[in-house]
Amino acid sequence: MARPQSRFICQRCAESFLRWEGQCRNCGEWNSLVETIVREPSRARGAATGSAEAATRPAGLAEIADADLPRLRLGIDELDRVLGGGLVPGSLVLVGGEPGIGKSTLLLQAAAGLTREAHGASGVLYATGEESPGQVRLRAGRLGLLAGEPGERVRVLAEHDVGRIVEVARAERPALVIVDSIQTATLDEMEGAAGSVGQVRESALRLMELAKGDGIAVILVGHVTKDGSIAGPKTLEHLVDAVVNLEGERYAALRLLRATKNRFGSTDEIGVFEMEDRGLVEVADPARAFLHGYAGSASGSVVAPTLEGSRPILVELQALTSQSAYGTPTRKASGLDPNRLSLLIAVLGRRAGVGLGSHDVYANLAGGLTVMEPGLDLPLALALASSLRDRPIVPGTVAIGEVGLLGELRGVVGLERRLREAARMGFVRAVVPRPVANMPLARIDGLEVVTVDTLADAIKIALAGRAAAPHGEAVPAMLG
Ligand code: TYD
Ligand code: MG
Repeated sequence: MARPQSRFICQRCAESFLRWEGQCRNCGEWNSLVETIVREPSRARGAATGSAEAATRPAGLAEIADADLPRLRLGIDELDRVLGGGLVPGSLVLVGGEPGIGKSTLLLQAAAGLTREAHGASGVLYATGEESPGQVRLRAGRLGLLAGEPGERVRVLAEHDVGRIVEVARAERPALVIVDSIQTATLDEMEGAAGSVGQVRESALRLMELAKGDGIAVILVGHVTKDGSIAGPKTLEHLVDAVVNLEGERYAALRLLRATKNRFGSTDEIGVFEMEDRGLVEVADPARAFLHGYAGSASGSVVAPTLEGSRPILVELQALTSQSAYGTPTRKASGLDPNRLSLLIAVLGRRAGVGLGSHDVYANLAGGLTVMEPGLDLPLALALASSLRDRPIVPGTVAIGEVGLLGELRGVVGLERRLREAARMGFVRAVVPRPVANMPLARIDGLEVVTVDTLADAIKIALAGRAAAPHGEAVPAMLG
């Protein structure tokens, strides 16, 4: 059999070249050549038409074989839930995240979990191109995974050549192959360096063949670049069945696991973990996890019931304003949308009499979370007003709602669910946009819901003195 060869294909005009060049000689496009494996035509075509014939006959919906396969449980509930109830055998999953966020830790724990759940029935092949087996063992030791099933059935292979990884996987037949990471994976027959667009794509394709052809689940670890996308070609995300991202701040303990694509489940579920010395530990009450450290009485701090997928999470927004020393004031947002911050500063000035034009403004979502939902407009605006006037928000208050350019407030989805969670956490008052006439709000025990029409009104109510608070000094018990 002839060895497959690599060619450099122009992504614009599809002309192929033997060597990489900066400019396509056919169409003149710059930086458009990507290395691609050219499979032997006769074999490839034969195989393709063979399967195509079988697959292109239409079938009635009810005739189609039930694809509801038993899932492989990874023994980490939050992860299994984000995947839609466990891993589907033969599926290809991409786990993304910034370096050092805990991807290798999570997947080593998942590998161990699978061997425990399967009670010795199946194993895991952990191919590491980044760390030596010694380093993996060291981590496993720290995580307490050396004894019992995991110690025996999680098999570590220090290899970045995908051909070899596939060969070992076909020989050992594990239930799951983990490739850590796809950016270090290479194919022997390609020239490009590890991590190049061509290498990443062809390696992923080869691993997909393993997944689909042999019914082995494959998890790829992918690094995320500064702008938040997974390093390598965009096609990687189209290729895989699910993309799961591990987010958080490296120096904060909380981690959020979120599916951005899932062919076998919903993308609404999130998982919350805490990085401890025994690895990533599931957080028992995620709704309050990000409120850790919330004092409740400082000016510039507002709690908002945000919704992550279907799960309500309470977050603390913090704002700090100070007279600017230089001509152009500084505006910084972390964990929040910087464009919304600029917009709110303008709306506050024009519609609510809160002038921040000559102030430096810093806004932050506490806990290392990033939330972009427009519902955070109102709490953020309140935090800014509170900081500027140096008056805390009435204790026990939460706020949520979108702010329009005219200073009017707009509703958010899932309001009742959010408010129930706030009440459960001990909050006693919520400032929310007035609901449209035909959709009255349900009563929520223990929570006074104040509905307002404009940002200006919301500021008046939220910054009112303590006397206005219905429950006096009612700071929620858990926050004390
Ligand atoms: P790692 O899983 O190597 O991150 P990634 O694979 O995403 O690059 O680990 C990230 C950090 O977690 C590392 O700096 C050390 C820390 N850590 C703990 O705090 N506790 C632990 O039990 C382990 C294994 C790691
Ligand atoms: Mg790693």
